[in-house]
Amino acid sequence: MVTPVERVQARLSMAQRVVVLTGAGVSAESGVPTFRGAGGLWQYAHVEELATPLGFARDPERVWHWYDQRRVQLVQCSPNPGHVALAALEQRIPDFLLITQNVDDLHERAGSRKIEHVHGSIRHARCSDTRCRQSQHWTLLPDSPLENIPPRCSCGALQRPAVVWFGELLPEEPLERIGAYLACGKVDVALVIGTTARFPYVVRWAEQARARGALLVEINPEQTDLSPRADMVLRGPSGRILPHICAI
Ligand code: OAD
Repeated sequence: MVTPVERVQARLSMAQRVVVLTGAGVSAESGVPTFRGAGGLWQYAHVEELATPLGFARDPERVWHWYDQRRVQLVQCSPNPGHVALAALEQRIPDFLLITQNVDDLHERAGSRKIEHVHGSIRHARCSDTRCRQSQHWTLLPDSPLENIPPRCSCGALQRPAVVWFGELLPEEPLERIGAYLACGKVDVALVIGTTARFPYVVRWAEQARARGALLVEINPEQTDLSPRADMVLRGPSGRILPHICAI
């Protein structure tokens, strides 16, 4: 009898093209808090005050303190076996793409390189004034707390965290590269890991991959909006499951 893990393993061992979509759950075992569910950030933080352009305009100092604290906490965290397994998988798959909603850099620290961040990076800042050239360029922030909050750009405008807030468009270039990847040829496996899949684009990318022939596999300890659409669901923490299925 073939177990679900063995079935995914077998598909991955023959795969040429694999797309992986990750959310906050993949970093949970590294100690990075998720957003929803028990202990999630949105339980005690107000989305509209901390993660919207209006919230930033009203109280940039408060917003910056929140992001500053999260960034400094992140520096203390390390990639977990799930991140490491995905980086190893990338080495073995000829045409691999990792799409993450996470603003942390744990995938990169584990060795992932073919990665698109659709919600930006918490370790960077950019100018909040779209007329300034520095609004297109990210500045790496220090590992320690910022000395001056809120920080300012050389043009005099406020800097902002280089993340995507609610009500904002996703960054164009990653979207184009994701669109191009999903538009060309067969996809063998799509892994959707540690996300509630609340955003329609996450579901759309997963379904596009499936329409291209992918075995759609969800890895998550809990039921999500995507679960009924997945071909297979592996229930459990990704740090435990991924090393098994990626051991190909
Ligand atoms: P959520 O916090 O909504 O969901 C985390 C998911 O991870 C849930 O489905 C959990 O069941 C699952 N999970 C928890 N522990 C896990 C583990 N050890 N292994 C695997 N899965 C686990 O996070 P996202 O879906 O990533 O956006 O949230 C998407 C976006 O909503 C975030 O990028 C952020 C947030 O608001 C913005 O800030 C724009």
